Formats: sequence, C-alpha cells, structure tokens
Amino acid sequence: MNLKELVLKTRTCRRFDETHQISLETLENLVDLARLSASGGNRQPLKYILSNKPEECEKIFSYLAWAAYFKEWSGPDKGERPSAYIIMLGDKSISDNFGVDHGIAAQSILLGATNEGLGGCIIGSIKREELCDDLKIPDRYEVLFILALGKPVENVIIEKIKDDDVKYWRDDKGNHHVPKRNLEDLILK
Ligand SMILES: Cc1cc2nc3c(=O)[nH]c(=O)nc-3n(C[C@H](O)[C@H](O)[C@H](O)COP(=O)(O)O)c2cc1C
Repeated sequence: MNLKELVLKTRTCRRFDETHQISLETLENLVDLARLSASGGNRQPLKYILSNKPEECEKIFSYLAWAAYFKEWSGPDKGERPSAYIIMLGDKSISDNFGVDHGIAAQSILLGATNEGLGGCIIGSIKREELCDDLKIPDRYEVLFILALGKPVENVIIEKIKDDDVKYWRDDKGNHHVPKRNLEDLILK
C-alpha cells in the first residue's frame, strides 16, 4: 500500500469481528507510532491505557457513544464490538494544554492499525467521569480520546459530498458511506 492508499483505507470502522484477538504487543506497537509523532513544544504529555481483555473491553464499551448521525443505532451489537481499546490520556503533571497532540497521535495509531489489517474509531463522546471512576484513572490524567480497535467487518465507501450534507449513511446491504468535500472546494484561490 502506498501512502494515499493507506490514508484512503484508514476509514472509521464501527463494526468488528469481536472474536479476533489483538495482542498487547500489537497495541504497544501502535502506541509507539504515536510516541514518534509530532507534539506541541515537544512536551509529549500523552499517556495510554491498553485494553484487550473482554471483561475490561465490555466496561469501556458501556461509556462510549457511537455514530451520532445514526439516531436508531446505539452502537455495535455483541459479536461486532471492538476487541481492544487504547485510552488516550493527557498527563496534567506535564502540561495543562494538550493542543492537537491527541489528534495527531490518534491518526498515527489508526494508520498503523490499517497497516496491520485492523480498523478503528476515534471516540470523543465518552462518559468521562464514570469511566475514570470505574477504571480508577487518577485525577492527574485527562481522558482525551478512546480508540476502539478491531478486525473490520464493515465496508466503508467514500462518497462525493452532495448539497453540502456531511452526514454519513448506511445502505440496506450494511455498507457505510462517508461523504468527503471536494479538493477544489478546500483550497482557497
Ligand atoms: C475528534 C473526533 C471525535 C470523534 N468521536 C466519535 C465518537 O464519539 N463516536 C463515533 O462513533 N465516531 C466518532 N468519530 C468518528 C467520525 O465520525 C468520523 O471520523 C467521520 O464520520 C468521518 O469518517 P472517516 O473517519 O471514515 O473519514 C470521531 C472522529 C474524530 C476526528
């Protein structure tokens, strides 16, 4: 895969083969890509919690919100849930401002996941207080994103945007369609 193919393939995926195990080593290798990514002031304030155990994954799942545009869908069913998570934390003892570090790190991780035949979703909509209580995450850390990871069973198709409508949709075969703005509309002349 060249870089463009990798970026094209790195789509948000929300349905997985839950039987597919992801090793801790794989998760560590993904975090290593984040470690090597850019960081404002090179402060590197991000820390990570790795989870690949079914009981812990089930707990984490209960604090996440999926696909805001799908009002009728409360997230993947059992059997299609992520088999691993990376919780991205900001270490407040290093910095009180994490800038865009977590966005850059998240994309590095997702690109790495695609490269390993995996897929994932950046989750920003998190019941943070409940999650921190349940997982006993110390106050020193701010939960920034959670990356949900697994072996994709969802086919994602990029569409040309129509009528400025950014909402993604699912067709009757279960394919997920995601509209993207046109290049010529992004570059100001
Ligand atoms: C900062 C950020 C937060 C996101 N939070 C959520 C979320 O809470 N739940 C979810 O299902 N998807 C979430 N997403 C995924 C977006 O919906 C997805 O990136 C968008 O639909 C475009 O699809 P694509 O990633 O395939 O290009 C988030 C993405 C980003 C970048």
